[in-house]
Amino acid sequence: MKRQRVASLKTLPEGESVKFQFQRDGLSFEGFALRFGEQIVAYENRCRHLPLSLDYGDGRFLTRDGAHLICQSHGALYEPLTGLCVRGPCEGASLRPLKVELAEDALWLVS
Ligand code: FES
Repeated sequence: MKRQRVASLKTLPEGESVKFQFQRDGLSFEGFALRFGEQIVAYENRCRHLPLSLDYGDGRFLTRDGAHLICQSHGALYEPLTGLCVRGPCEGASLRPLKVELAEDALWLVS
């Protein structure tokens, strides 16, 4: 098992997110982690409609009301805790989850 430090928990208050790079099969990908209520979730930063980042580079993942993750390209809405697209061109598809764990006051990506 490999662990990669993603962020200090102090930098992840409610509704905040952090982006990070990770390797898979020798290729580099971008992921993001988000604190949503009491939980922290992490996904690959790639929409399920087209291979574009959800945030379009500005680090904003949540809708204004904070209820959903949003893809800024065409407005797909995803449930934060499951990654399921509930509205938009990729409805029914899910973001690719990343396994993370909390330890030593930090968030770690586990692969
Ligand atoms: S690229 Fe995300 S909704 Fe189209």
